[in-house]
Amino acid sequence: MPDTSTAAASAASGASVDLRGIHHVELWVGNAKQATYFYRKCFGFDQVAYLGPETGYHDRVSYCLRQGNIFVVVTSPLTHLNPMNIWLNCHGDGVRDIAFEVGDVDRSWQAAVARGATPLIEPHDVEASDGAIRRCSVRTYGDTVHSFIERGDYAGFMPGYALDETRGDNVGIHCIDHVVGNVEHKRMDDWCDFYEQVFDFSQFVSYDDKDICTDFTSLRSKVMASEDRAVKFPINEPAPGKKKSQIQEYIDFNMTAGVQHLALRTENILETIEQLRENGAEFLDVPDSYYDSVWDRVGDIDEDRDKVRDLKILVDRDDNGYLLQLFTRPLQDRPTFFVEIIQRCGSDSFGKGNFQALFEAIEREQQKRGNL
Ligand code: FE2
Repeated sequence: MPDTSTAAASAASGASVDLRGIHHVELWVGNAKQATYFYRKCFGFDQVAYLGPETGYHDRVSYCLRQGNIFVVVTSPLTHLNPMNIWLNCHGDGVRDIAFEVGDVDRSWQAAVARGATPLIEPHDVEASDGAIRRCSVRTYGDTVHSFIERGDYAGFMPGYALDETRGDNVGIHCIDHVVGNVEHKRMDDWCDFYEQVFDFSQFVSYDDKDICTDFTSLRSKVMASEDRAVKFPINEPAPGKKKSQIQEYIDFNMTAGVQHLALRTENILETIEQLRENGAEFLDVPDSYYDSVWDRVGDIDEDRDKVRDLKILVDRDDNGYLLQLFTRPLQDRPTFFVEIIQRCGSDSFGKGNFQALFEAIEREQQKRGNL
């Protein structure tokens, strides 16, 4: 839980987290070997680095996956004594760490803790024969953390990892567009305050339960963004409805707040989704009726409309342009973490016009699981 009571005063003191962007996202999973195979074969990531017993770590394995500027680390415990097992028991496979690259770990740590972040791992060096980096970690919502990583002139992914050159078949995704957190009822504003006070983020946009609701359930959402807008964190909370909100379903299965989805950007969503579908990726089903009215709402786009419909891609427009997006089904058996594929054509919003269609699609699946 963020302690933001003294944060405003600390924020005013000037010291700030020296944020450079997202360094990597780390997933904790039950079987990293198989999960890595899935992310390589289905999502086209290269395996670029490996950490485990062969590199001197005997309690866990980590595979580093890369596509464009997206770095994802997939980690599993190797022994029953590793506390990671408790995390996995509670949450199942999911995002543990949204790690930031910072210019100065010690300064960022001091600033974050002074502004109300809960400390987890103090600044320390991670060394290997080929060099060193400095890192630390603070807590955020649920059982999720932000590590701060100061790379200095370290050239590899991270010390302790051996080079791996197992190539995937690139599907065109190249950067993390945004990372969405689901938090408990009435906690959205607290966590927005946390990102504002600890990281100097500001509110980019908000959606209330009138924007995102069906007959049964609804949610509220605010998007917090870093000063340069390079890091965007939408934060959702469930809103009361006739039946259980999909956000509440996530929280029940994750046992707490956590990362709902990673949005990965492509410049050619038609090719990306076609390839992902060929690879066996499962997407939320978009009803045919969605395309009856979408072009009236969105107008002309550069992409072939028939192909957009055939691939069941969602489209939305705002004052600045349009976007195309599609959401996978949960990537593990618990209805928790999933991935969004997004192409931005001028639009810098999040597909508000699609929320209704998306929400109804998720609810149909929630209904099948008996959780609505
Ligand atoms: Fe999203």
